[in-house]
Amino acid sequence: MSLAGKVCLITGGTSGIGKETARAIASMGAHVILAARNLELAERVKQDIIASHKSASIDIMQCDLASFASIMTFVQAYKAKYDRLHILINNAGLMERERKVSRDGIELTFAVNHLAPFLLTKLLLDTMKSSAPARIINVASDAHRGGTINFDDLEGKKSYSLWKAYGQSKLANILFTRHLASMLRGTSVSVNCLHPGVVATDLFDIIPPPFNYLAKLFMLTPEKGAETTIFLASSPSVEDITGEYFNKKKIAVTSKLAQDADLAARLWLVSEQYIAA
Ligand SMILES: NC(=O)c1ccc[n+]([C@@H]2O[C@H](COP(=O)([O-])OP(=O)(O)OC[C@H]3O[C@@H](n4cnc5c(N)ncnc54)[C@H](OP(=O)(O)O)[C@@H]3O)[C@@H](O)[C@H]2O)c1
Repeated sequence: MSLAGKVCLITGGTSGIGKETARAIASMGAHVILAARNLELAERVKQDIIASHKSASIDIMQCDLASFASIMTFVQAYKAKYDRLHILINNAGLMERERKVSRDGIELTFAVNHLAPFLLTKLLLDTMKSSAPARIINVASDAHRGGTINFDDLEGKKSYSLWKAYGQSKLANILFTRHLASMLRGTSVSVNCLHPGVVATDLFDIIPPPFNYLAKLFMLTPEKGAETTIFLASSPSVEDITGEYFNKKKIAVTSKLAQDADLAARLWLVSEQYIAA
């Protein structure tokens, strides 16, 4: 499959699923921009991808998703350099054992996993609309099934647990996808989300060694875990599909909460308030 002439922006391309996604998309001929907080690491990833695919065209731009200011500065720099964006992959994500906060003082899981892609995508929508057909891909998770959107304590100030925070953020990814899809109808910009599988990446380094090494033996490789993202970014078969959740390259049923349009609309409004504050 050729993606020659396409411009693809990916977050979290410095490790795990994102790195293998970036490698595959670059190997298909797209120009890939890694939006990364760690430029040295991103440079090593770029060189690694070029070593495996000599013709890969990769740019690195600074973006710390734990900071609204950094995201806004990134988008300004992006628009100064590029006037097109065909594929946006919101892949970066984290899990935190203890409650931490972003540079804006917002609980880190909610900030990086949900508010960051929310803001980044909103700021890039005009560029994507003028580049249409274009695709947005949000890397969610089956962990959404255990999640709820707790409007009384979105940031886990009263009670924090890793799974509550992570499940909520991944449910938010799906609700965001659905609401955005309804707003984008008629624009030729699609937005879908996915579960990559359970994948042996740094995400699980919250598990202490040697248990993390042992657990990873039973997980998918990052290459395998990247397959559904790559499929959504490149396959002509999903060109006209939007607002869906995929698993193993097929549309999958989500939790009931993830289908709740009112919940999605309320989360959207609250997210708007966060990024405006
Ligand atoms: N692994 C799984 O089994 C699994 C299952 C379901 C869903 N997912 C989802 O898949 C996505 C990718 O995760 P992964 O498993 O590949 O994990 P990973 O190897 O830990 O990669 C996470 C990526 O996110 C980036 N990131 C984290 N915080 C950031 C920040 N503040 N600013 C910019 N970038 C930041 C990391 O950058 P650095 O390199 O600078 O740390 C890294 O590139 C996540 O959204 C995760 O929720 C994973």
